[in-house]
Amino acid sequence: MHAQIADFNDRMLSLGLARVSEAAAIASARLVGRGNEKAADQAAVDAMRTQLNLLDIDGVVVIGEGERDEAPMLYIGERVGTGNGPAVDIALDPLEGTTLTAKDMPNALSVIAMAPRGTLLHAPDVYMEKLAVGPGYPEGVVTLDMPPGERVRQLARAKGGTPADITVCILERPRHADLVKAVRETGAAIRLITDGDVAGVIHCAEADKTGIDMYMGSGGAPEGVLAAAALKCMGGQIMGQLLFRNDEERDRAARAGIGDLNRVYTRDQMVTGDVIFAATGVTDGSILRGIKREVGWLTTETVLMRSKTGSVRRMTYRTPVK
Ligand code: FBP
Repeated sequence: MHAQIADFNDRMLSLGLARVSEAAAIASARLVGRGNEKAADQAAVDAMRTQLNLLDIDGVVVIGEGERDEAPMLYIGERVGTGNGPAVDIALDPLEGTTLTAKDMPNALSVIAMAPRGTLLHAPDVYMEKLAVGPGYPEGVVTLDMPPGERVRQLARAKGGTPADITVCILERPRHADLVKAVRETGAAIRLITDGDVAGVIHCAEADKTGIDMYMGSGGAPEGVLAAAALKCMGGQIMGQLLFRNDEERDRAARAGIGDLNRVYTRDQMVTGDVIFAATGVTDGSILRGIKREVGWLTTETVLMRSKTGSVRRMTYRTPVK
């Protein structure tokens, strides 16, 4: 294990990782606003896989497009990279926000994280209850045990204000009706998003820029691990608890090696070592600009982060359209 971690040359690998999310975003560019979720996702998956396989890593997809029997590419357990390099875990979502892309709505991203083998939670494709805040707050300032209104009040106090100074980001879903009601009763504001909770959580880490202080509610568990990887680089807290609707989902968790089905995972339990994270904007959003199309050209914006140093690098890339 230690030899593998020592081999994880994240400084150079991170630059390669940026190319991977860029390639996926570029591939989906021609499908932004075209009403075809599947085609947009497929284009991003193909491009991400091709680019990932050029990296000198011995990679295993631990968060991917689904289980082997349901996803032909980038499935959980797929080996990626040339095989000549460090043993790493890969968490990816070639197109986070397929509907956002198809409808040209904000905050669709291409996302990928890489970490030494065995250090990313193998989250099954079930829901996860999530709670996240940005950096600068004491550990445990809010917890999943607290009722939603209490979380708002505690965060407001820690921020030095009142609930009216807090904005919470929540996925707009019927299952969140009670949550929305409880938060509204405190006087806090809610930014409802239709999709894309990786971006939703990342928003908390740049509260000055995005205006969002806290993320709450259930969404995909794989997206929870990706969001934890981002916050591990940017600072901030995220807690997640897997949610199961039936035995099939519990079996999924067992197959993924989850023993305690009720466990509440902290950020550092979802991502136990150093991690690198890259995201490229597909549609315009509050953290990244989406792909800009000019006749004959595409421009992307990518954010590339390393938890080891806390460095955040933003890159724009302009390329002729082939
Ligand atoms: P896709 O990109 O796979 O469409 O996922 C988008 C998303 O909004 C995620 O960000 C979120 O975690 C999940 O779907 C929520 O699931 P549901 O739509 O079932 O509430």
